[in-house]
Amino acid sequence: MRLILLGAPGAGKGTQANFIKEKYNIPQISTGDMLRAAIKAGTELGLAAKKVMDAGQLVSDDIIIGLVKERLKDADCANGYLFDGFPRTIAQADAMKDSGVKIDYVLEIDVPDELIVERMSGRRSHPASGRVYHVKFNPPKVEGKDDVTGEPLIQRDDDTEETVKKRLAVYHNQTEVLLGYYNKWAESGLPGAPKYRKISGVGPVEQVRDAAFAALAG
Ligand code: AP5
Ligand code: ZN
Repeated sequence: MRLILLGAPGAGKGTQANFIKEKYNIPQISTGDMLRAAIKAGTELGLAAKKVMDAGQLVSDDIIIGLVKERLKDADCANGYLFDGFPRTIAQADAMKDSGVKIDYVLEIDVPDELIVERMSGRRSHPASGRVYHVKFNPPKVEGKDDVTGEPLIQRDDDTEETVKKRLAVYHNQTEVLLGYYNKWAESGLPGAPKYRKISGVGPVEQVRDAAFAALAG
């Protein structure tokens, strides 16, 4: 299974990625998680990326495309992969197409903007695993602790209301165009074209998970 999860910031890409990667036994390639790991490690890339991410803007296409191409060389990508938060621009999508990276499904998770700020303000993350919680909608078993490791959960620096609004604007200006891009490719029926599936991301996490599994089975 090789797929792309598309959706606005806070649509639930990371949440659903955790279910999908387990079901299909594939790695989750989250460019956001990779950048946050670089920030934590204090690398040059991390230092440069932090400013851009805290401003709610996109990191340059060259950097992101390079990161993903390197990641795809890893042995665990041989059976498939799940892209989360990537591609985010036409240039990134074209770079994958041009280098022959295969995609079976593009899954769009649709959530209206009005619900996003509340989702972000209550989000708590476990960076090491990519697991995501919400204080109200998807609480951890023990407050402030990851269910599996018991390690502390963190709040992301870019989850302030002001930055979330900027990220939503960037999504509408630069990323939403990819919905049409992949839809058109899917409809072309050309060899190698992916299947395009759209589900609602509104409702309980498990309900969205079941919709995602059903969409990927057909
Ligand atoms: P990234 O980390 O990709 O963030 P994002 O796309 O903005 O998406 P989020 O991670 O915020 O949301 P999500 O859809 O994963 O939702 P989640 O499951 O966590 O990118 C961060 C930054 O890095 C970018 O702004 C950019 O600067 C840079 N970057 C990354 N990739 C890049 C690229 N390719 N090119 C350039 N720059 C790049 O859920 C959110 C919350 O909602 C959680 O609390 C969750 O528990 C809750 N929730 C989930 N599902 C439900 C539900 N059904 N009902 C109620 N609550 C729910
Ligand atoms: Zn995410």
